[in-house]
Amino acid sequence: MTEQTPVTEASAVKIPTLPDAQTVTSVQHWTDRLFSFRVTRPASLRFRSGEFVMIGLMGDPHPETGKQKPLLRAYSIASPSWDEELEFYSIKVQDGPLTSKLQHIQPGDEIILRPKPVGTLVHDALLPGKRLWFFATGTGFAPFASLLRDPQTYEDYDQVIVTHTCRDVAELEYGRQLIDNLRTDEMMLELLGEENLAKLTYYPTTTREESPKMGRITTLLKDGTVFADLGIDGISAETDRAMVCGSMGLNTDLKEILEGFGLDEGANSDPKHYVVEKAFVG
Ligand code: A2P
Repeated sequence: MTEQTPVTEASAVKIPTLPDAQTVTSVQHWTDRLFSFRVTRPASLRFRSGEFVMIGLMGDPHPETGKQKPLLRAYSIASPSWDEELEFYSIKVQDGPLTSKLQHIQPGDEIILRPKPVGTLVHDALLPGKRLWFFATGTGFAPFASLLRDPQTYEDYDQVIVTHTCRDVAELEYGRQLIDNLRTDEMMLELLGEENLAKLTYYPTTTREESPKMGRITTLLKDGTVFADLGIDGISAETDRAMVCGSMGLNTDLKEILEGFGLDEGANSDPKHYVVEKAFVG
């Protein structure tokens, strides 16, 4: 009788079929336009909370050659740098080249993840300050989902204000649950500290459905509503730092507002008062 090769754990592991493949571990659909998912993290991947990577899937085969090319887009990592998995928060665009396919991923599927994190929504790009603002619209919340779970966010500031503007209430749910979880999950409480979490103010607004606070954040800043609601005097270069992530329109409008308050735009190589990144769309 010939000896058979024993089935080891290693031989049972699925062999990656994509370049830079990572395996999907969970998927959650929030609305018909929004979903989040988690994937395995490459052992060698180090990143700073708030950075993004290129992720995607193989595109359709070329009609003549049959060759397939990776279809990649920039996605903010929504999980913090200490997390053993990676989380992403995405829009679903029905005719979007990537998200029309990506929205159908299931646990066990593979995605492509290029392990080269970059980005400007990082603490290093801001000068020290007292109050930190996160301004997000839609899936622009993703980098803040990472930063809000990073102890440094609270250690570096006396106050952290996160604003999130969405069309309707259901689109706020990912952010709302994440913030609730910071305050109720034992592990998060222990990691961040109750005293630190007391520094956090959440300011959600909607524009197309009735909710306790309606309006674009830009309008609410310009007419002073935000400051009246939060009991603060305003924004100044001396005390305030800001990170902005949303559509091109939001980014342009908020830049103008922040510059109007005397804040200057920073970068990794030149830290200043605020930083901006475009949320992935399409
Ligand atoms: P609005 O409904 O008035 O367009 P989207 O889902 O299209 O990405 O938009 C997300 C949220 O961002 C919506 O509430 C939208 O408001 C808001 N928004 C879009 N453009 C701007 C902008 N230039 N300034 C502020 N908020 C904006």
